[in-house]
Amino acid sequence: MDKVHKLITDRWSPRAFDDRAVDYDKIHLLFEAAKWAPSSRNAQPWRFIFATKEMSDYKVFIDLMSEVNQQWASTAPLLVMPLAQVISTYKNRPNRLAFFEAGMAVGNLLAQATAMDLMVHQMSGYDHERAKETLVIPTRYEPMTIMAIGYKGEPAKLPSDVAAWEQRERTRMEISKFLVQGKCK
Ligand SMILES: Cc1cc2nc3c(=O)[nH]c(=O)nc-3n(C[C@H](O)[C@H](O)[C@H](O)COP(=O)(O)O)c2cc1C
Repeated sequence: MDKVHKLITDRWSPRAFDDRAVDYDKIHLLFEAAKWAPSSRNAQPWRFIFATKEMSDYKVFIDLMSEVNQQWASTAPLLVMPLAQVISTYKNRPNRLAFFEAGMAVGNLLAQATAMDLMVHQMSGYDHERAKETLVIPTRYEPMTIMAIGYKGEPAKLPSDVAAWEQRERTRMEISKFLVQGKCK
């Protein structure tokens, strides 16, 4: 293979989601993919809180979000909050790599979502402290993002300024900007 795999190139973060619900077997597969991520001592320091549009907790998630994120994220049929277990169960030690490991579980979830034509848009624009309180998150866990998940929708259904972001060109820095040989200076 001489090019980046479709599972990577097809992933992007949309703002318009279709009304179509995500079946429970598909939701199950997202977490099945997440669970196979690697972690130090196989500790699996991640948890996920999820809410579909029919669940009362869906509104709780929406209420936590910044207004700008609420505008588009409330079109997604599924919301998921990944947590990193920052205090390890093993000797109650801080795990400095918890976000890294939980992030790999999220990476697996993203690839599985893409393979099933599902789109995921993550957001950090929400009230983390209120999330811990409202969702009664134990102190050994830290909420990471809220992920809006669903099928591709019609940008025309969004407010025009939000729909305009949807059309923006996707850019990345050149590899030479982040790849170094030897000392970082
Ligand atoms: C940790 C994290 C936090 C993010 N927070 C927000 C957010 O609060 N609102 C938003 O619209 N997008 C958010 N995004 C989406 C990014 O803006 C998006 O991933 C980035 O622009 C690259 O675009 P792409 O995912 O389409 O490749 C977030 C993404 C990540 C990974």
